[in-house]
Amino acid sequence: MSFNKSKEIIEEGDVVILYLKPSNMHSLEVKAKILNKKGEEIDNVFQTVYGALKVFSLVGQKYGSKVELSRGWAYVLQPTPELWTQILPHRTQIIYSPDISLIIYLMELRPGSIVIETGTGSGSLSHSLIRTIRPSGHLYTFDFHEQRVSLASAEFNRHGLSNYVTLKERDVCVEGFGEELKHKVDAVFLDLPHPWLAVEHAIVTLKRTGGKLCFFSPCIEQVQRTCTELSLKGFIELNTYECLQREMKVHYKSLPVLDLECLKYKVCICSVLVVIHTRRIKSEVGVIMFRAKYGTRNYVCRYVCKIYMNLMEYRDVPKIGFQLFGFVSHTFPK
Ligand SMILES: C[S@@+](CC[C@H](N)C(=O)[O-])C[C@H]1O[C@@H](n2cnc3c(N)ncnc32)[C@H](O)[C@@H]1O
Repeated sequence: MSFNKSKEIIEEGDVVILYLKPSNMHSLEVKAKILNKKGEEIDNVFQTVYGALKVFSLVGQKYGSKVELSRGWAYVLQPTPELWTQILPHRTQIIYSPDISLIIYLMELRPGSIVIETGTGSGSLSHSLIRTIRPSGHLYTFDFHEQRVSLASAEFNRHGLSNYVTLKERDVCVEGFGEELKHKVDAVFLDLPHPWLAVEHAIVTLKRTGGKLCFFSPCIEQVQRTCTELSLKGFIELNTYECLQREMKVHYKSLPVLDLECLKYKVCICSVLVVIHTRRIKSEVGVIMFRAKYGTRNYVCRYVCKIYMNLMEYRDVPKIGFQLFGFVSHTFPK
């Protein structure tokens, strides 16, 4: 029941998330015995890369606590729709959290909303929809695949969410959403290969005061066909979004910290005079590099300068408080 409400202590029957690292999480049902492949009842011991965990030993532990494994440790977390989306058993392609958050926002869902979703698939979106609309709202979710419907139904039960969701096995493109949902619904969400075939059925479920229709399609051709159908049916202001999430990669790099204390003291030390051994044309522009010292730090300075006769001079070189101590190189155009 741990999906249903926030809890402090793990109880028998809870579904918990065993967190080893971001890419290694597992959902576990906290019960003493499970059935093995032969159908025999055995102790519920879960194997991880850091050793075994007796799952029933979690009863009484705090959510968020660190638990001992036989060769290491892990955290035990309360499940959320976001964590579930990362670890659920995939029966289909699923919708991920960045798209889910945009979908919920664009459909303007909130507690009390009545929503249709089809197809249920692996139930990734369904879990987030339920959290958003409960306790007074309801999700009606449809899929025409018998096994997916029964597995999703078992999951909703196990997660304590059955009161907020009605799951039906139906081909919505052929049969629609049923008389009982006529003009009852705030929003309809379609994740189908042919969403345009469900548009007409979806329209009649929306409340007479209006509602939102949102569909999710991986191909632009599907988007075009559905948008054409929506325009024909009188929808205006159609918007198409692609949701890209870019994580910032943080790297650590040491940089010298400039000590600008010197700016307080206006002391000009010297200028640089460099003898150039090749014949150069007066006014030709080149670059000189030399070392400068400020306090205990060394800097290599690079200045663009002009030639005077066969001498190159740069008088502004010394920054206030810098001490020049070595010529490094000079370069000129060939
Ligand atoms: C991509 S999956 C949905 C994934 C789901 N949104 C999730 O996040 O887990 C598409 C589902 O639509 C179902 N489906 C396809 N056509 C359908 C139809 N005409 N009526 C009902 N379900 C349909 C498929 O069986 C499949 O489970």
